[in-house]
Amino acid sequence: MKVAVVKETGADERRVALVPSLVRELVGKHGLAVAVEAGAGSGSSYADEEFTEAGATVGDLASTLAGADVILKVAPPSLAEVGGLPDGAVLIAFLSPFENLETVKALADAGTTSFAMELIPRTTRAQRMDALSSQANLAGYKAVLLGADTLGRILPMFMTAAGTIRPGKVLVLGAGVAGLQAIATARRLGAKVEAFDVRPAVKEQVESLGASFLEAEDEVTAEGEGGYAKALSDEQHQKELELIAAHIHDADIVVTTARIPGRAAPELVTEDMLKSMRDGSVVVDMAASPAGGNCAASRPDETVVAHGVTVLGPTNLPSSLAHHSSQMYARNIATLLLEMVKQEGEDDATTPVLDLDFDNDILGPSCLTHGGDVRHEATRDRITAQGATHG
Ligand code: NAI
Repeated sequence: MKVAVVKETGADERRVALVPSLVRELVGKHGLAVAVEAGAGSGSSYADEEFTEAGATVGDLASTLAGADVILKVAPPSLAEVGGLPDGAVLIAFLSPFENLETVKALADAGTTSFAMELIPRTTRAQRMDALSSQANLAGYKAVLLGADTLGRILPMFMTAAGTIRPGKVLVLGAGVAGLQAIATARRLGAKVEAFDVRPAVKEQVESLGASFLEAEDEVTAEGEGGYAKALSDEQHQKELELIAAHIHDADIVVTTARIPGRAAPELVTEDMLKSMRDGSVVVDMAASPAGGNCAASRPDETVVAHGVTVLGPTNLPSSLAHHSSQMYARNIATLLLEMVKQEGEDDATTPVLDLDFDNDILGPSCLTHGGDVRHEATRDRITAQGATHG
């Protein structure tokens, strides 16, 4: 069974889907053949020689893909890349299905069996495969570093002969995976941290990291299914905005990470709030997207100065920490890959074969396309709705 790792082609994508230590495990322990496209690890500081030493064959794109049963990637493929996939191959990658309906259709039309890393259920058994979490964790860390680097002030308290500097204040909105890591990082840098989330369950986690959890006079909560939030009612949203407005004016850095699966990010930092903030303060909107983010002024991958506040909207923070984000992603994707590999034969003479069991509690939900069909219902509905609009 041959597994191929291709070089990412996106301008802003430095990660690689497998790292040498995982290649060694897949080849040595599980008997898989791994082919890596030359230079695939160059953006993340993994040299071709390291892949070769780990047991992979390194070659050009054509030889990497030739006869591959499974192709591993980080970012969604372009339409041209879909066209180049071997017939009947399995593709595993982040596929952002809702934002890439054309790609999803192309994958189905090409008969590709695709698994989307973001569709892996957030269950205990699937934790080792949860790439959204591993990448959001690193992103939350980097968001605070970016904010601190952009801010013309320091975060820790300094007591020196030249005077005392009081600690800076960081406000984190949304305390999921990214938010909790942002809180922990800001605390490590010595900031005073406040955080808010619509899921009261995270209050304890926020406080255990040494931050204060903001609470409204009237409760603002929206606990949804599976540990996710659901959208707030208009009235509750208004209450949340009042709560944020009461705390944001003296924040040096605001990191926003609020999202609700399948919906546009809620706007939590308004123009008026930006006006209330001190000149030179920074907002890092991790939810920035073309459809809008958590901050009224954020633009994806741009730096905007609004009312004296610098607003950053970085969309691929994990790529800027490509060595470790690749290492964590590789563990996630290799674990998912092994979920679809069965060993055939007796004792020492086993051969790995592909075994796609859609009744498997992880493979079933994470499969996006198979046998010419879009298997993921919510994506299929969007494609149908798009067809109806265009038709
Ligand atoms: P998550 O689902 O674990 O956390 C999101 C949190 O936002 C949840 O705790 C939820 O309860 C909270 N939330 C939802 N609505 C809210 C509201 N109105 N007010 C306050 N909190 C609210 O998601 P995760 O993995 O932590 O990712 C967070 C965000 O960061 C997402 O938008 C994700 O797409 C983005 N992200 C961005 C990256 C980048 O490079 N910019 C990298 C990784 C993730």
